[in-house]
Amino acid sequence: MHPPLIDPFARPITYLRVSVTDRCDFRCVYCMAEHMQFLPKADLLTLEELDRLSTAFIGLGVRKLRITGGEPLVRRGIMGFFRNVSRHLGNGMDELTLTTNCSQLARHAAELADIGVRRVNVSLDTLDADKFAAITRWGRLPQVLEGIRAATAAGLRVKINAVALKGVNDSELFDLVQWCGDEGHDLTFIEVMPMGEMGEEDRLDQYWPLSDLRARLAERFTLLDLAERTGGPARYVRLAQTGQKIGFITPLTHNFCESCNRVRVTCTGELFMCLGQEDNADLRAPLRASADDEALRQTIRAAIARKPKGHDFDYSRQGVAGQMTRHMSHTGG
Ligand code: GTP
Ligand code: 5AD
Ligand code: SF4
Repeated sequence: MHPPLIDPFARPITYLRVSVTDRCDFRCVYCMAEHMQFLPKADLLTLEELDRLSTAFIGLGVRKLRITGGEPLVRRGIMGFFRNVSRHLGNGMDELTLTTNCSQLARHAAELADIGVRRVNVSLDTLDADKFAAITRWGRLPQVLEGIRAATAAGLRVKINAVALKGVNDSELFDLVQWCGDEGHDLTFIEVMPMGEMGEEDRLDQYWPLSDLRARLAERFTLLDLAERTGGPARYVRLAQTGQKIGFITPLTHNFCESCNRVRVTCTGELFMCLGQEDNADLRAPLRASADDEALRQTIRAAIARKPKGHDFDYSRQGVAGQMTRHMSHTGG
């Protein structure tokens, strides 16, 4: 056993998000540019390297592995990766899961369930087909709804992630809540983060603080605060009238960094210690330099030793202070 990963602020690092591809079959406006330049395939870690990396983190105390992208299910061979890495379930790893746009989930849901995935997080900001097409540029709502149905039929729990967008889905708040309630899905709202090259003004125009959204919900429902956490950043309430669970991910209005337990690896092996900071460590070099994992573990430890206290996103200072040119798709959210 290796000593666990503890960062300079005494936070144990037990949650790893692994982005397996920078590609996606959608182009969500807040996540990617319309014409993205994708990485040459040769730069990507192989699935074997991604497995070795994940295994090294599990050996260092990581208990939850979330596979992200881009869209993880567009990576060729990804189901083999899931199957291989699932050997750690119950054997160091408590949870193996993914965040997906659901475009390909109908094909893979049953196999994911068989592998031991219990729940998936699905990005879905609107139930209006035209708005959905406008947000995702390339996505089509019926395909996503079919993927969600397939996941449920396969026994996977589905959590819907909706980025709160003023002027876009604020008019649909209660429709989303009702639909998730009817379908039995948890629902989490996310504050839009200032990343990518979207103009400052656009992003500020669309920023809908979850404190406002919560107040709107409270006009119709009694919100019961839940202490329950999933290991992610969301805080949950239960709607007394319907029993539904609603999550809030509030990087801007309520910073949750003090309880941060996670780091991210990109598909080229960059280890990002914080979603909202540029500092990262190259894990590909130690992975490729030696078949022994000791140098890799040392590089990971050195990186964790400089994990920052938190992000610098802030809309309240002039314009979007802390706007990052890195796209969300690079680190997988
Ligand atoms: P659960 O296991 O369901 O709790 O998942 P999760 O919330 O950890 O994962 P998910 O992929 O659903 O995350 C939703 C979104 O929350 C991400 O895509 C990010 O936009 C945001 N998020 C997650 N972790 C962080 C974080 O550490 N910092 C910030 N600023 N945002 C985060
Ligand atoms: N701000 C907040 N959430 C974002 N996501 C993508 N880009 C952003 C952003 N700029 C979310 C997606 C998805 C997850 C992977 O990240 O909606 O749920
Ligand atoms: Fe693709 Fe997800 Fe980014 Fe949308 S948010 S472009 S679905 S990776």
